Amino acid sequence: MSYQGYQQLLVEQQGKLLVVKFNNPKKKNAINRFTYQEMTRVLTEVNDDESVSLVVFTGVGDIFTAGNDLTQSANSDDLDAFFKQSNATFKAMVLSFVNCRKIVFALVNGPAIGIGATIVGLSDVAWCSETAYFHTPFTKLGLVPEGGSSYMLPLILGRSKASETLLLSEPLSAQEAYQFNFVSRIFKASQLDSVVWPKLRQYSELPQNSLLQGKRLVKEGFLENLLKANEAECKQLLLQFQHSEFAQAIMDFASRKIKSKL
Ligand code: COA
Repeated sequence: MSYQGYQQLLVEQQGKLLVVKFNNPKKKNAINRFTYQEMTRVLTEVNDDESVSLVVFTGVGDIFTAGNDLTQSANSDDLDAFFKQSNATFKAMVLSFVNCRKIVFALVNGPAIGIGATIVGLSDVAWCSETAYFHTPFTKLGLVPEGGSSYMLPLILGRSKASETLLLSEPLSAQEAYQFNFVSRIFKASQLDSVVWPKLRQYSELPQNSLLQGKRLVKEGFLENLLKANEAECKQLLLQFQHSEFAQAIMDFASRKIKSKL
């Protein structure tokens, strides 16, 4: 597999590691619908590539991702069609995470917002840098939990912390993420080359069949509920996109720079 033709993501194979970077630094690595399509593509392509054992998601620069690109809908003249299409694209991306047979590793190099935080809950292993935090401002935006988070976050964090995060828009610091088992390690940026990448390369050399079969068994414990959550979330998200609360949040985001200059 050559992993060519990606425009939104930086995709590079390093031995048995496939490194996938969010690469939209001008917008803090925000993810648009083309990025979602490329995430689906890479997670699907890698399933049939025996030369890769482990897929690592990380971000260029000092942020993991600022989440969904909040400026996209401004360019659309048929909003209903745009939201339906975006919803389908998003749902497919979440499914590709759920269906990925290879080990998916979230190497959270900085702030992870919205879908940036919820894909951490979809990953097999997550480590974060000291500078990371996890923020899901769904209710502030008139949205609802997505990316399977309505199931995975209560499972991982416990109901109270998950609801604080998902419903009350409270960010999780790196320390809290570690304390609540959302990540299994916190690393310093200075350890990336000396410790983190060598360790990931070492993991990728573990016997592949055993890795894949082990992952399949671990996933079986929660797969059905996760799929149900994705279905229900996407159905509700489509309604939220059409609600005035979301329209207001998008306008507020667009006008926040103007306001801050006044
Ligand atoms: N969608 C689209 N553009 C985004 C974006 C997003 N999610 N996040 C950041 N950007 C853009 C900003 O509009 C800004 O563009 P400009 O330079 O043309 O004005 C640029 O990225 C830099 O962002 P800025 O806010 O100036 O950087 P910051 O360091 O002060 O703050 C964040 C960084 C990520 C904390 C802040 O940008 C933010 O809160 N973004 C929105 C996150 C969000 O709500 N995501 C959706 C979750 S569902």
